[in-house]
Amino acid sequence: MRAEKRIGFVPTMGFLHEGHLSLVRMARMMSDLTVVSIFVNPIQFGPKEDYLRYPRDIERDSTLLERGGADILFLPAEREMYPEGYATYVQVRGLEDLLCGKTRKGHFLGVATVVLKLFNIVRPHIAVFGEKDYQQLKVIERMVRDLHLDVEIVPHPIVREPDGLAMSSRNTYLSEEERRRAPSIFRSLEVARALFLDGERRARAIKEKVEAFLKDADVQVEYVSVCHPDTLQELDRIEGSAVVLVACWIGRTRLIDNIFLREDGSPCGE
Ligand code: PAJ
Repeated sequence: MRAEKRIGFVPTMGFLHEGHLSLVRMARMMSDLTVVSIFVNPIQFGPKEDYLRYPRDIERDSTLLERGGADILFLPAEREMYPEGYATYVQVRGLEDLLCGKTRKGHFLGVATVVLKLFNIVRPHIAVFGEKDYQQLKVIERMVRDLHLDVEIVPHPIVREPDGLAMSSRNTYLSEEERRRAPSIFRSLEVARALFLDGERRARAIKEKVEAFLKDADVQVEYVSVCHPDTLQELDRIEGSAVVLVACWIGRTRLIDNIFLREDGSPCGE
């Protein structure tokens, strides 16, 4: 049976930053009991990805969470989550194999699976997810809808460093020189927004300008996409709103970011 208290949940992989803590504050505002999980989920990492070197610091994280007002820290062990013979996976078709899913095969299968498992263990009434991982948010929303899960998904705007770089646990991989280049990711998205506000509605024109800006800034583009905010399908023309998503590499570090474009010009999504 579900607890009588309203449970707010923030799933994370730890190495917490102000972005995570802001999600925790939102969960706190919307619930009586705030649960945060830290679990570096092995099945959402590809074989050549950074699972082993993903930054971990549980002591620092638990201090931050205590100060940040979380009530319960859930720290499952890998063997608990995936005991021998584990065989069940959640596939959200149509959303999981595009954008980041093209190069990160199986990534969203791993994300949807672990999030459903965490939901079943924690039994939250609400769960907060950052718009920074926009495709992940859409995958989770669709899973919740398709599987009739009794949880409200609350999106949280992207939390940024003062120079615009979206906060990420992976920012710690950047050298000083790379860190100086990294704000150009957000600046490229501001270019997209400026074009849109100037009346540009051709997705390709926006995409090309963003790509060119990133190239000039010595940032290696994996993709730039101008998509429908819910289906994540590439648009030809923007009718109403759109989201511009970027995945790129600075040195050996893969970073993502996005910006929402709205007809009324409101700077939503950050
Ligand atoms: P992680 O990267 O630790 O992120 C946990 C949550 O924090 C996600 O909802 C993510 O979107 C949000 N977040 C991270 N950086 C943010 C920022 N700068 N602004 C706003 N929100 C931010 O995402 C995961 O972990 C995992 O895939 C997980 C959902 C826990 C499943 O393993």
